[in-house]
Amino acid sequence: MNTHEMHASNARAWDEAAAHYETETQADIEFLRAGGKNFCAPELAYLGDLAQWCGRAIHLQCAGGRDTLSLWNLGAQTVVGVDINARMLACAAAKAQALGVPAQWYCSDVLNTSHDLDATADLVYTGRGALCWLMDLNAWAQVIARLLKPGGKLYVFDGHPLDWLWDGASTHYRFEADTVSYFQREPVSSLGWAVGYIPVEKQAKQPEAKWERQWTLGDIVNALLAAGLRLLRLEEHPDRYWDIFPNMPPELQDRLPHTFSLWMDKPAG
Ligand SMILES: C[S@@+](CC[C@H](N)C(=O)[O-])C[C@H]1O[C@@H](n2cnc3c(N)ncnc32)[C@H](O)[C@@H]1O
Repeated sequence: MNTHEMHASNARAWDEAAAHYETETQADIEFLRAGGKNFCAPELAYLGDLAQWCGRAIHLQCAGGRDTLSLWNLGAQTVVGVDINARMLACAAAKAQALGVPAQWYCSDVLNTSHDLDATADLVYTGRGALCWLMDLNAWAQVIARLLKPGGKLYVFDGHPLDWLWDGASTHYRFEADTVSYFQREPVSSLGWAVGYIPVEKQAKQPEAKWERQWTLGDIVNALLAAGLRLLRLEEHPDRYWDIFPNMPPELQDRLPHTFSLWMDKPAG
């Protein structure tokens, strides 16, 4: 399968997660209406008060829009979400409408993000389970470079690639299989979702195949440097944005990184 075919398969598979997100729409509206910001501590530290510096924020792989609308609550003047799954975007649009937020939603593969958005972003934000779905990181980096205004910032907060190696059900750090490698390059196909993400009773009876792949930290940074962005800061964190190791004591989880922050900009000239 090529990149396009794997992404198309993923778009269908994400309907399964969207069915779960739909059940959370009302709760998300209430959370956001109360001023909620669905961010971890590192995200809040990097983004700061968006009212001070961010006109347009573009959120790539925005899913049901809770994080996109959290950028609005952080002070962005306008927010735009891009996602490949129409059902996810319907959730996002319902939330924005209920809140009276003039957000824009684009349904497309992130690699084909509309050229109407070129050079309009003060901030491109993405992560929380985004990069593993992309089969071409160089093409992704070029999209980010064209979306940013000169001087605009990229903030990525995503799962640390080391977490690919661990058995998610274990009480301690144990390789998921003897063959795992941090440097695996081949995409992996799977069915269904981690139960820490979608409860078992909400999983589809006949799931679609979905494709994921590992990217090392070097792969990610180098793709963005090659697209012309400038590295400002790279940081690893113990923070987790979902319950990835439901059986492991938090003190043990805290001893290795589970997320990273990547802060870059597009040089002004
Ligand atoms: C784990 S979610 C992203 C995190 C999000 N903040 C959330 O609410 O959990 C991954 C999202 O990526 C989207 N996605 C996967 N592949 C994509 C692609 N090639 N282009 C655009 N969106 C994609 C999925 O539809 C899904 O909504």
